[in-house]
Amino acid sequence: MLSDRSRPVIEATLPVVAENIEEIARRFYAHLFDAHPELLDGTFNRGNQAEGTQQVALAGSVAVFASALVKDPEQVPEHLLARIAHKHASLGITPAQYDVVHDNLFWAIVDVLGPAVTPEVAAAWDEVYWLMAYALINMERGLYSSRGVRPETVWRDWEVTERTDETADVVTFRVRRIDDRLVKTSLPGQYVSVRVQMPDGVRQPRQYSLTRADDGQHRQFSVKRVRGGDKPDGEVSNQLCDRAQVGDVLTLSLPFGDVVLDDSGRPVVFLSAGIGVTPMAGMLSHLTAAGSRLPITMLHADVDEESFALRRQVLHDVRRLPGAELHVWYERGAHGTLPVDGLHAGTVDLDEVDLPVGAAYYLCGPLPFMRAVRGALLDRGVPPRDIQYEVFGPDLWQADMVTETAPGATDPVTEGAQ
Ligand SMILES: Cc1cc2nc3c(=O)[nH]c(=O)nc-3n(C[C@H](O)[C@H](O)[C@H](O)COP(=O)(O)OP(=O)(O)OC[C@H]3O[C@@H](n4cnc5c(N)ncnc54)[C@H](O)[C@@H]3O)c2cc1C
Ligand code: HEM
Repeated sequence: MLSDRSRPVIEATLPVVAENIEEIARRFYAHLFDAHPELLDGTFNRGNQAEGTQQVALAGSVAVFASALVKDPEQVPEHLLARIAHKHASLGITPAQYDVVHDNLFWAIVDVLGPAVTPEVAAAWDEVYWLMAYALINMERGLYSSRGVRPETVWRDWEVTERTDETADVVTFRVRRIDDRLVKTSLPGQYVSVRVQMPDGVRQPRQYSLTRADDGQHRQFSVKRVRGGDKPDGEVSNQLCDRAQVGDVLTLSLPFGDVVLDDSGRPVVFLSAGIGVTPMAGMLSHLTAAGSRLPITMLHADVDEESFALRRQVLHDVRRLPGAELHVWYERGAHGTLPVDGLHAGTVDLDEVDLPVGAAYYLCGPLPFMRAVRGALLDRGVPPRDIQYEVFGPDLWQADMVTETAPGATDPVTEGAQ
């Protein structure tokens, strides 16, 4: 809990910290990588650094966490941290690295805010940092120990046994274990970090959702090429799609991820767009393997049928699930040969389908898609706690809450935590 001494100091300085936190995060990362260039080899994603999204995510998480503590100093808002802890665990982050991050973060705070950082202010923010850090360290320790690994041993080599061109831009990889160690199970909806050596010798990790249930031997994931347009092309996705061949060895982390199918026996609605289909395909595959009889509604949006990755696997699984339906929306019109349950033109319109009562909702796709769909669900009275979403990048939703979470604002934190 936050001490009585620190609470008023955090409350008083939160607006100025929140206002400057993205600049603090920018300088923090520059300073961190100057002092520890090894963190850019295999740990941090340099694409997110170049785009600035990781800086925004870090800043947002600190501001949201501090706001929640000011509101309720007795309660460390651990639920805000699950996504971060899973991402950290998938990258093998260690407790000792929290000291390194601390020192560089506090250097950046002083660098940006200057003399405003009195010893009293520094001590109060130090307390917030360590509340956050220990909550994360404990969650990560739990994640490592429940999987029987240490941070250094989350990685393992696999051999590519199949590569399938799903669409013009998406390749599915199936990999098989090459050692005798047991293949650890995954929960439906989880991802792995894949660590790839780039042409300049630097290793780069990226996350890919698992698209098939476990069979004790394989993992499967699908990669969409990121085309840069006026920016550089995505480095890892293109390297994998262009270069990774059958027989090659790829390094994958254990599966992690907090957006997983709830096993409460409620109806399920999947809402995906584009490559956001991947976690849904994984969850459907798990439901099929378990012989589920639940009411399941899969709603997917894409450009056209040819662009719908994993469509045959998804349809095959839907047909094996007695309570499942598949509806698709194609931007280029309601044309296609797949025998789906509903073929619609344009973008997802929830008025065109019947949604089961009391369902758990899972969303994945571009942020504007998820915002629109989530808004439509909330308008229909679906409670926020029934809607989970997966973001294919650093989660910027919490950052959006920063301005709303200034002391005195109404309950945005629980909203941001969905
Ligand atoms: C939990 C999770 C699950 C995911 N699941 C999947 C999945 O199942 N399938 C899938 O395909 N993807 C998935 N992703 C996304 C995936 O992890 C990668 O982010 C994606 O493949 C892009 O990586 P990349 O290396 O190709 O692109 P990057 O090189 O990281 O580039 C990303 C963006 O940054 C821009 N950029 C890069 N360098 C610069 C620069 N110097 N200046 C300006 N802009 C720059 C690029 O133009 C591009 O738009 C998932 C992500 C997460 C977090
Ligand atoms: C209290 C301390 C910390 C906080 C608040 C924090 C916060 C975050 C947040 C918000 C994300 C983005 C999660 C997402 O939505 O994907 C993240 C990712 C990450 N964090 Fe931390 N973190 C902390 C400590 C650390 C430490 C000690 C390390 C080790 C060097 C670390 C390394 C990383 C890496 C490598 C990523 C993924 C970055 C990317 O993909 O761009 N973090 N962290």
